[in-house]
Amino acid sequence: MGKVYAAILAGGSGTRMGNPDKPKQFWLMADRPVLVHTVEKFCMVDAISQIIVLPPENWLNQTVDIIQNYLPQFADRIAVVAGGAERNDTIMNAIAHIEATAGLEDDDIIVTHDAVRPFVSFRIIEDNIAAAREYGACDTVIPATDTIVHSADGKVITDIPVRSEYYQGQTPQSFNALRLKALFQELAESDRAVLTDACKILVLKGEPVALVQGDVANMKLTYTNDMRIARAMIEGEGEDA
Ligand code: CTP
Repeated sequence: MGKVYAAILAGGSGTRMGNPDKPKQFWLMADRPVLVHTVEKFCMVDAISQIIVLPPENWLNQTVDIIQNYLPQFADRIAVVAGGAERNDTIMNAIAHIEATAGLEDDDIIVTHDAVRPFVSFRIIEDNIAAAREYGACDTVIPATDTIVHSADGKVITDIPVRSEYYQGQTPQSFNALRLKALFQELAESDRAVLTDACKILVLKGEPVALVQGDVANMKLTYTNDMRIARAMIEGEGEDA
Protein backbone atom coordinates (compact mmCIF):
# COMPACT_ATOMS: atom_id res chain seq x y z
CA MET A 1 0.00 0.00 0.00
CA GLY A 2 1.24 3.51 -0.84
CA LYS A 3 2.34 6.09 1.67
CA VAL A 4 0.09 8.84 3.00
CA TYR A 5 1.25 12.45 3.22
CA ALA A 6 -0.56 15.46 4.65
CA ALA A 7 -0.19 18.96 3.21
CA ILE A 8 -1.28 21.73 5.58
CA LEU A 9 -2.03 24.68 3.33
CA ALA A 10 -0.94 27.81 5.18
CA GLY A 11 0.27 29.95 2.28
CA GLY A 12 -2.63 32.43 2.25
CA SER A 13 -2.57 36.02 3.43
CA GLY A 14 -5.96 36.11 5.18
CA THR A 15 -6.97 39.51 3.80
CA ARG A 16 -10.62 39.01 4.79
CA MET A 17 -9.52 38.56 8.41
CA GLY A 18 -8.15 42.07 8.25
CA ASN A 19 -4.59 41.92 9.60
CA PRO A 20 -2.21 42.11 6.65
CA ASP A 21 0.86 41.80 8.91
CA LYS A 22 -0.17 38.50 10.45
CA PRO A 23 -2.08 35.87 8.45
CA LYS A 24 -4.89 34.23 10.43
CA GLN A 25 -3.15 30.82 10.58
CA PHE A 26 -0.68 32.46 13.01
CA TRP A 27 -3.31 34.07 15.28
CA LEU A 28 -3.56 32.57 18.75
CA MET A 29 -6.37 30.32 19.85
CA ALA A 30 -6.18 28.97 23.42
CA ASP A 31 -2.57 30.29 23.61
CA ARG A 32 -1.35 28.42 20.51
CA PRO A 33 -1.22 29.50 16.85
CA VAL A 34 -4.19 28.21 14.81
CA LEU A 35 -1.94 26.15 12.55
CA VAL A 36 -0.48 24.29 15.54
CA HIS A 37 -3.96 23.03 16.44
CA THR A 38 -4.44 21.91 12.84
CA VAL A 39 -1.04 20.22 12.42
CA GLU A 40 -1.45 18.40 15.74
CA LYS A 41 -4.63 16.67 14.48
CA PHE A 42 -2.63 15.12 11.63
CA CYS A 43 0.24 14.11 13.94
CA MET A 44 -2.25 11.89 15.78
CA VAL A 45 -2.86 9.79 12.66
CA ASP A 46 -0.22 7.06 12.53
CA ALA A 47 -0.91 6.23 8.87
CA ILE A 48 0.52 9.62 7.83
CA SER A 49 4.27 9.35 7.20
CA GLN A 50 4.97 13.06 6.86
CA ILE A 51 3.12 16.31 7.45
CA ILE A 52 4.20 19.15 5.16
CA VAL A 53 3.33 22.63 6.42
CA LEU A 54 3.34 25.31 3.71
CA PRO A 55 3.35 28.92 4.97
CA PRO A 56 3.99 32.06 2.91
CA GLU A 57 7.67 32.33 2.01
CA ASN A 58 8.26 35.24 4.39
CA TRP A 59 6.85 33.19 7.30
CA LEU A 60 9.11 30.16 6.76
CA ASN A 61 11.48 30.83 9.67
CA GLN A 62 8.70 31.68 12.11
CA THR A 63 6.86 28.51 11.11
CA VAL A 64 9.93 26.35 11.71
CA ASP A 65 10.27 27.97 15.16
CA ILE A 66 6.57 27.47 15.92
CA ILE A 67 6.78 23.75 15.11
CA GLN A 68 9.90 23.38 17.27
CA ASN A 69 8.32 25.26 20.17
CA TYR A 70 4.82 23.81 20.20
CA LEU A 71 5.18 20.35 18.66
CA PRO A 72 8.76 19.23 19.43
CA GLN A 73 7.67 15.61 19.94
CA PHE A 74 6.44 15.44 16.34
CA ALA A 75 9.08 17.66 14.68
CA ASP A 76 10.81 14.77 12.91
CA ARG A 77 7.56 13.94 11.06
CA ILE A 78 6.95 17.55 10.03
CA ALA A 79 8.54 19.42 7.11
CA VAL A 80 8.13 23.15 6.51
CA VAL A 81 8.16 24.21 2.87
CA ALA A 82 7.18 27.53 1.24
CA GLY A 83 3.65 27.77 -0.15
CA GLY A 84 2.88 29.14 -3.62
CA ALA A 85 1.10 32.14 -5.14
CA GLU A 86 -2.25 30.31 -5.47
CA ARG A 87 -3.69 27.58 -3.30
CA ASN A 88 -3.11 24.93 -5.99
CA ASP A 89 0.52 26.08 -6.31
CA THR A 90 0.89 25.46 -2.59
CA ILE A 91 -0.40 21.89 -3.12
CA MET A 92 2.04 21.43 -6.02
CA ASN A 93 4.92 22.64 -3.80
CA ALA A 94 4.01 19.90 -1.31
CA ILE A 95 4.06 17.28 -4.07
CA ALA A 96 7.38 18.62 -5.40
CA HIS A 97 8.84 18.39 -1.89
CA ILE A 98 7.82 14.72 -1.59
CA GLU A 99 9.28 13.94 -5.01
CA ALA A 100 12.56 15.65 -4.13
CA THR A 101 12.92 13.89 -0.77
CA ALA A 102 11.17 10.52 -0.33
CA GLY A 103 10.17 10.17 -3.99
CA LEU A 104 6.55 9.53 -5.08
CA GLU A 105 5.16 6.08 -5.80
CA ASP A 106 2.05 5.26 -7.86
CA ASP A 107 -0.21 4.61 -4.85
CA ASP A 108 0.89 7.50 -2.66
CA ILE A 109 -1.86 9.72 -1.30
CA ILE A 110 -1.81 13.36 -0.31
CA VAL A 111 -4.37 14.65 2.17
CA THR A 112 -4.60 18.42 1.63
CA HIS A 113 -6.12 20.54 4.39
CA ASP A 114 -6.66 24.23 5.11
CA ALA A 115 -4.44 25.36 8.00
CA VAL A 116 -7.39 27.53 9.04
CA ARG A 117 -9.71 24.57 9.75
CA PRO A 118 -8.34 23.59 13.16
CA PHE A 119 -11.39 21.54 14.21
CA VAL A 120 -10.89 18.72 11.70
CA SER A 121 -11.45 15.37 13.41
CA PHE A 122 -9.55 12.09 13.49
CA ARG A 123 -12.58 10.41 11.90
CA ILE A 124 -12.64 12.84 8.96
CA ILE A 125 -8.91 12.32 8.29
CA GLU A 126 -9.23 8.52 8.46
CA ASP A 127 -12.28 8.57 6.15
CA ASN A 128 -10.30 10.73 3.69
CA ILE A 129 -7.44 8.25 3.58
CA ALA A 130 -9.82 5.33 3.01
CA ALA A 131 -11.82 7.14 0.29
CA ALA A 132 -8.70 8.40 -1.53
CA ARG A 133 -7.34 4.85 -1.58
CA GLU A 134 -10.61 3.46 -2.92
CA TYR A 135 -11.61 6.17 -5.43
CA GLY A 136 -8.36 8.04 -6.15
CA ALA A 137 -9.78 11.32 -4.85
CA CYS A 138 -12.26 12.63 -2.29
CA ASP A 139 -13.74 15.86 -0.97
CA THR A 140 -15.08 16.52 2.53
CA VAL A 141 -18.58 18.01 2.46
CA ILE A 142 -21.60 18.76 4.62
CA PRO A 143 -25.20 18.88 3.34
CA ALA A 144 -26.30 22.41 2.44
CA THR A 145 -28.51 23.71 5.23
CA ASP A 146 -29.68 26.98 3.70
CA THR A 147 -31.59 26.90 0.42
CA ILE A 148 -29.16 27.45 -2.45
CA VAL A 149 -30.23 30.27 -4.73
CA HIS A 150 -28.56 30.48 -8.13
CA SER A 151 -28.35 33.88 -9.78
CA ALA A 152 -26.24 34.30 -12.91
CA ASP A 153 -26.33 38.12 -12.84
CA GLY A 154 -26.59 38.80 -9.09
CA LYS A 155 -29.89 40.63 -9.60
CA VAL A 156 -32.62 38.06 -10.21
CA ILE A 157 -32.96 34.35 -9.49
CA THR A 158 -31.92 32.00 -12.27
CA ASP A 159 -32.85 28.83 -10.41
CA ILE A 160 -33.41 27.30 -6.99
CA PRO A 161 -31.85 23.83 -7.13
CA VAL A 162 -33.03 20.84 -5.07
CA ARG A 163 -31.25 21.38 -1.76
CA SER A 164 -30.85 17.69 -0.94
CA GLU A 165 -28.48 17.34 -3.90
CA TYR A 166 -26.21 20.19 -2.76
CA TYR A 167 -23.34 20.20 -0.29
CA GLN A 168 -20.87 22.71 1.10
CA GLY A 169 -17.25 21.89 0.45
CA GLN A 170 -14.81 21.71 3.35
CA THR A 171 -11.35 20.17 3.53
CA PRO A 172 -9.48 17.80 3.62
CA GLN A 173 -9.44 17.06 -0.08
CA SER A 174 -7.35 13.97 -0.73
CA PHE A 175 -5.82 12.62 -3.90
CA ASN A 176 -3.60 10.11 -5.53
CA ALA A 177 -0.65 12.53 -5.61
CA LEU A 178 0.82 11.62 -9.01
CA ARG A 179 -2.62 11.71 -10.66
CA LEU A 180 -3.38 15.17 -9.27
CA LYS A 181 -0.01 16.47 -10.42
CA ALA A 182 -0.47 15.05 -13.93
CA LEU A 183 -3.93 16.61 -14.29
CA PHE A 184 -2.74 19.96 -12.93
CA GLN A 185 0.12 20.02 -15.41
CA GLU A 186 -2.29 19.40 -18.28
CA LEU A 187 -4.20 22.60 -17.43
CA ALA A 188 -3.68 25.72 -19.51
CA GLU A 189 -2.46 28.79 -17.60
CA SER A 190 -5.90 30.42 -18.00
CA ASP A 191 -7.67 27.36 -16.50
CA ARG A 192 -5.29 27.31 -13.56
CA ALA A 193 -6.35 30.82 -12.62
CA VAL A 194 -10.03 29.79 -12.54
CA LEU A 195 -9.72 26.33 -10.98
CA THR A 196 -9.17 27.42 -7.40
CA ASP A 197 -10.73 24.21 -6.07
CA ALA A 198 -8.39 21.24 -6.46
CA CYS A 199 -11.28 18.72 -6.70
CA LYS A 200 -12.73 20.62 -9.64
CA ILE A 201 -9.62 19.75 -11.66
CA LEU A 202 -10.66 16.10 -11.47
CA VAL A 203 -14.37 16.75 -11.90
CA LEU A 204 -13.76 18.62 -15.16
CA LYS A 205 -11.69 15.71 -16.44
CA GLY A 206 -14.53 13.31 -15.61
CA GLU A 207 -12.61 11.56 -12.83
CA PRO A 208 -14.52 10.30 -9.77
CA VAL A 209 -14.24 12.30 -6.55
CA ALA A 210 -15.88 10.55 -3.59
CA LEU A 211 -17.75 12.42 -0.86
CA VAL A 212 -16.56 12.19 2.72
CA GLN A 213 -18.94 13.33 5.42
CA GLY A 214 -17.60 16.49 7.05
CA ASP A 215 -18.77 18.22 10.18
CA VAL A 216 -20.27 21.63 10.93
CA ALA A 217 -17.53 22.03 13.53
CA ASN A 218 -14.88 21.72 10.81
CA MET A 219 -15.38 25.41 10.03
CA LYS A 220 -13.01 27.64 8.10
CA LEU A 221 -11.69 30.77 9.76
CA THR A 222 -12.37 33.46 7.17
CA TYR A 223 -13.71 36.56 8.95
CA THR A 224 -12.97 37.97 12.43
CA ASN A 225 -16.31 36.66 13.63
CA ASP A 226 -15.21 33.11 12.74
CA MET A 227 -12.19 33.61 14.98
CA ARG A 228 -14.46 34.65 17.85
CA ILE A 229 -16.59 31.54 17.36
CA ALA A 230 -13.50 29.31 17.14
CA ARG A 231 -12.04 30.72 20.34
CA ALA A 232 -15.38 30.18 22.11
CA MET A 233 -15.55 26.61 20.73
CA ILE A 234 -12.10 25.72 21.98
CA GLU A 235 -12.75 27.19 25.42
CA GLY A 236 -15.91 25.08 25.59
CA GLU A 237 -14.38 21.84 24.30
CA GLY A 238 -15.56 18.86 26.34
CA GLU A 239 -18.36 20.83 28.01
CA ASP A 240 -21.24 19.26 26.13
CA ALA A 241 -20.44 15.68 27.09
N1 CTP B 1 -3.71 29.01 0.98
C1 CTP B 1 -2.45 28.53 0.62
N2 CTP B 1 -1.76 29.13 -0.41
C2 CTP B 1 -2.30 30.16 -1.07
C3 CTP B 1 -3.58 30.64 -0.73
C4 CTP B 1 -4.27 30.03 0.30
O1 CTP B 1 -1.96 27.58 1.23
N3 CTP B 1 -1.58 30.73 -2.04
C5 CTP B 1 -4.40 28.39 2.13
C6 CTP B 1 -4.71 29.39 3.24
O2 CTP B 1 -3.56 29.62 4.06
C7 CTP B 1 -5.84 28.71 3.97
C8 CTP B 1 -6.55 27.94 2.86
O3 CTP B 1 -5.66 27.89 1.75
O4 CTP B 1 -5.41 27.82 4.97
C9 CTP B 1 -7.87 28.59 2.46
O5 CTP B 1 -7.60 29.89 2.02
P1 CTP B 1 -8.57 31.10 2.28
O6 CTP B 1 -8.83 31.26 3.71
O7 CTP B 1 -9.75 30.97 1.39
O8 CTP B 1 -7.67 32.30 1.68
P2 CTP B 1 -6.61 33.26 2.33
O9 CTP B 1 -5.75 33.74 1.22
O10 CTP B 1 -5.90 32.67 3.49
O11 CTP B 1 -7.54 34.44 2.91
P3 CTP B 1 -8.20 35.67 2.09
O12 CTP B 1 -8.88 35.07 0.89
O13 CTP B 1 -9.13 36.29 3.07
O14 CTP B 1 -7.05 36.56 1.72
